[in-house]
Amino acid sequence: FISLLALSSQVQAADVDLQKLVNDVHKQFLSHKEGNNPTYIPALAAVDSDLFAISIVTAEGKKYSAGDINHVFSMQSIGKAFNLAALINQQGAQAVVDNIGVNATGLPFSSIMAIELNEERSVNPLVNAGAIATVSLIKAKNADKKWKIIESNLENFAGSELTVLKDIYKSETDTNVKNQSIARLLSNYGRLYDDIDESVDLYTRMCSVGINTEQLAIMGATYANAGINPMTKKEVVQAEAVPKLLAVMATSGLYDDSGLWLYKVGLPAKSGVGGGIIAVMPGKYGIAAFSPPVDAAGNSVRAQLAIEAIAKKLNANIF
Ligand code: DON
Repeated sequence: FISLLALSSQVQAADVDLQKLVNDVHKQFLSHKEGNNPTYIPALAAVDSDLFAISIVTAEGKKYSAGDINHVFSMQSIGKAFNLAALINQQGAQAVVDNIGVNATGLPFSSIMAIELNEERSVNPLVNAGAIATVSLIKAKNADKKWKIIESNLENFAGSELTVLKDIYKSETDTNVKNQSIARLLSNYGRLYDDIDESVDLYTRMCSVGINTEQLAIMGATYANAGINPMTKKEVVQAEAVPKLLAVMATSGLYDDSGLWLYKVGLPAKSGVGGGIIAVMPGKYGIAAFSPPVDAAGNSVRAQLAIEAIAKKLNANIF
């Protein structure tokens, strides 16, 4: 009986018209107003709060989108979950455990207290401390060459050229005193591995890379497709690293709300204060959504609702 149930849910998922699904979910939440644009990065406060887009890309490379799909937003923390692959490509998965950590902080993404409370200091690669440490660990001859590694890795995931949104980069550079403090604190504990200011700058540039939901869903679909970009067919990260990358996303992709997210939706996901979220159903889909207003944890309200509704309809839950 249980296997019959499982079979029927698979059949249902296979039967779902994905274009209709993204259209319906977009319509369902179009007028949903909750949350606020982040203000600590002034350029993010100025983004149109009504923008809303959803994309699904399958592991075979089929694409379905609805809403403001041409709007390019800054990936912000989403970049962290993919930049980690650049580090693993270069130094292997154990380097993450040895130098950064992979546990949840249970605290906000820019928490200084998390650094003080945990002996690992950076705690995990998806909070600001761990993401700055990740950037610092990547080895290159100079800052330009390191940026090339970071940028081309993100482009390999997206399967297209990406550019830094200059207004966001400038706005965040002008206001990122807290990240500078985090980097200095890590350095104090011997958990930052390159020049402090350069590491913060490269991290800030990475957060300012522009993306639309379709490109973001392709990035997620590359994880869903065991590290091979379904559009370009290029191996972006080794298949054996993908479960580890997704485990980190499941543990801390939505920061202090990661447990709640996993309980409700059951998919590894990563959010950014730019309003984007990418969720991954291994073997199946990358599901991306974008809407600028975020909740107290810094996660887009409508993007969470849209992905939750889609995942439910698709019976997509890793558990
Ligand atoms: O460093 C920061 O604060 C931002 N560039 C990124 C933070 C972020 O996206 C957290 N997300 N939900």
